[in-house]
Amino acid sequence: MQTCGIDYGTTNTSVAVINSKENPQVLELDHENDPPTSLPSLVYISSDGEVSVGRKAAKLFIERNVGREVKLITEETGMVIHKVSGGEPDKSEFYNPALIDPDKLETISLKTKVDINLPGRLFQSLKTQLRYITHKGTDVFGTNYQIEELVSFVLKKCKEQAENYLQKEIDIAVMGRPVRFSPSEIEDKVAERRLRSAAKIAGFEEVVFFYEPVAASVEYLATETTEDQVVMGVDIGGGTCDVCIMKFESSDTIEERISKSEILSVTGDNVAGDAIDKEIIRKKLFHYFGSKVKYGPHNLPLPKHMLNIVLDWQNLYRMNTEETINWLIGIENFCTQPEAVRALRLLIQKNCGYPLNLAVETAKKQLSFNKTSVIDFNYDELKIREEINREEFKRIIEEILEKIEHLLKEAEKNADMTPEKINLVLTTGGTCLIPAIQYMLKERYGEEKVRSRDTFTAVARGLAIIGKYL
Ligand SMILES: Nc1ncnc2c1ncn2[C@@H]1O[C@H](COP(=O)(O)OP(=O)(O)OP(=O)(O)O)[C@@H](O)[C@H]1O
Ligand SMILES: [Mg+2]
Repeated sequence: MQTCGIDYGTTNTSVAVINSKENPQVLELDHENDPPTSLPSLVYISSDGEVSVGRKAAKLFIERNVGREVKLITEETGMVIHKVSGGEPDKSEFYNPALIDPDKLETISLKTKVDINLPGRLFQSLKTQLRYITHKGTDVFGTNYQIEELVSFVLKKCKEQAENYLQKEIDIAVMGRPVRFSPSEIEDKVAERRLRSAAKIAGFEEVVFFYEPVAASVEYLATETTEDQVVMGVDIGGGTCDVCIMKFESSDTIEERISKSEILSVTGDNVAGDAIDKEIIRKKLFHYFGSKVKYGPHNLPLPKHMLNIVLDWQNLYRMNTEETINWLIGIENFCTQPEAVRALRLLIQKNCGYPLNLAVETAKKQLSFNKTSVIDFNYDELKIREEINREEFKRIIEEILEKIEHLLKEAEKNADMTPEKINLVLTTGGTCLIPAIQYMLKERYGEEKVRSRDTFTAVARGLAIIGKYL
């Protein structure tokens, strides 16, 4: 049976197989992406049903959806309701339209507003949505897509690339999973079940799951060490922060070392890159879009849901209705900050929440290498230039840092360990590059013990190794 290791991430996906030299080999998945071994976990479905994944999906969305003119038309839904014509209708519990004289009933056909120009839809962070029990599928231009199908488009690409490389069919996907998709046990089970179904839809016969930080630790065990050690694996990506503590024993073969290794504890939570980006938007950019606005004679603030839509670019286009736009135009001249209300309106009308998010993410990433950076966003009249430095960034993400520290302590407690007894801390995942997180780990465990494994591929490599010894 042939296996491949798949690290399906909230932001990026990577794949590794065991090559002819018996080593884990990470495969190129997306030549348009930097690095090409990471496939952005994005899916774009155009109105004619064409599906694209990865960097191409993002490009198509920006080309076609951002800044376009929205044309809403009223369409019949094909459903009717009855209304009593003339006089006050009976609103009591006894009201039954079937008992009313048909001559007094008026038939009203239900209509809906449809965006006839919508060129396509982009889906991001689908892994985070796997847990929502109420997720009943998404209508994409008249076709109902279950979340499993959307995820399967990314996994199909992984399978294709791995099979191309090995020139063999692959039956088993050895997949990573976060320690907790959700704090709720039911949601966690639902998410894993859906991810398994997605892999089956992609064509795998069997799916085996391992915790992501465990896979990253096994990668180290198999390639770098033969010592007896207590190792902590910390994997912080786009959606989750995952921690494990493992005990490794020396042995002559990798197989023996893997079979003798012991997981002492695992823990995790939904605090990672996506949450950090939202915090930056909330604390640094909300005021551009009206968080301080007061409007009308009663000095009312903007409704919360309107501001929060800035954080939810995937649904921003839904706000582009005549009612909302007219309302924003209406209050623009009766508020304390017309330019902010205008900015919010333009953001909605031009549908540029995604590029705004990218500008924030870019500035955040630069802060890992430079002491200051700039959130630079320019789209037509919308202009934002906001400097941010490491100190301020650290304050902005203070609560997130506390949650991460809490997870480290929880992992230690569950493993009956103290920081001194941990010999090595392995970090992986994009969010682990943040200096404040590195600093926290070094302060707690000692600078010499913290070691970075490859940011985007350690988990996939570990999964490929596990697959070999399954
Ligand atoms: N240099 C950097 N500094 C800070 N954050 C970064 C950097 N590079 C990437 N990131 C962030 O890391 C996250 C992506 O990391 P990664 O690819 O490890 O996540 P993932 O595996 O897709 O997610 P998860 O494991 O949580 O499902 C994104 O939030 C991205 O903004
Ligand atoms: Mg990851």
